[in-house]
Amino acid sequence: MARILGALCASSMLLAVLPACATQGHKTAEQVASRAAVLRVNPASANDGARVYIKNCSSCHQLDGAGVAGAFPPLADNPQVVGNPHDVISIVKLGTRGKLVVAGINYNGTMPAWGQMISDTDIAAVVTYIRTAWRNRATPVTLADVEAVSQ
Ligand code: HEC
Repeated sequence: MARILGALCASSMLLAVLPACATQGHKTAEQVASRAAVLRVNPASANDGARVYIKNCSSCHQLDGAGVAGAFPPLADNPQVVGNPHDVISIVKLGTRGKLVVAGINYNGTMPAWGQMISDTDIAAVVTYIRTAWRNRATPVTLADVEAVSQ
C-alpha cells in the first residue's frame, strides 16, 4: 500500500487532489485520504469498486480514469470499457497486451492479469466501477459474470 501510495503521490496530477500525501506511512490516514480523493473526482463512487480501483488501478489509469497518453489508456470515455461486459471482465481478469488505439493515441503495453491477484468479487466490483464512474454509464457486472470467465 505504501509503495502504491508512493507512486500515486509521485504523480503530479495527484498532488493536486491528494494533499494528504504527507501522511504516507499511516495506513488508516492513507486510506482515508485516498478515499476522499476518489470521492472528490467522482462523488457517486462510494462503493467497493472505488476502493479496489484506487488500490490496484489508479496508479496507471489515474483517479479520473484519464490514463497517461501513450502509456496507460484512459478508462473514461473509452468505448471498450462501456462495451461488451464479457470483454471488459476478460481484459481485467486475464490481462492484455499488444497494440491498442484509444481516442487516436497508440498504446502497446502490458496490463497484468488481475485474476491472479484479486478475488472475483473485487473484479466484479471494479469492473462495475469503471463502467459507471466518471461519465461512463454502462451495465454493472455480477460475481457470476466474472466467475464465468475462466483463467
Ligand atoms: C501497471 C499499470 C496498470 C495497472 C496497475 C492497471 N492497468 Fe489496465 N492497462 C494497462 C495497460 C498498459 C493497458 C493497455 C495494454 C495494451 O497496450 O494492450 C491497460 C488496459 C486496460 C483496459 C483495456 C482498455 C482498452 O481500451 O482496451 C482495461 C479495461 C483496464 N486496463 C482496466 C484496468 C483495471 C480495472 C485495473 C485495476 C484492477 C487496471 N487496469 C490496472 C496498465 C495497467
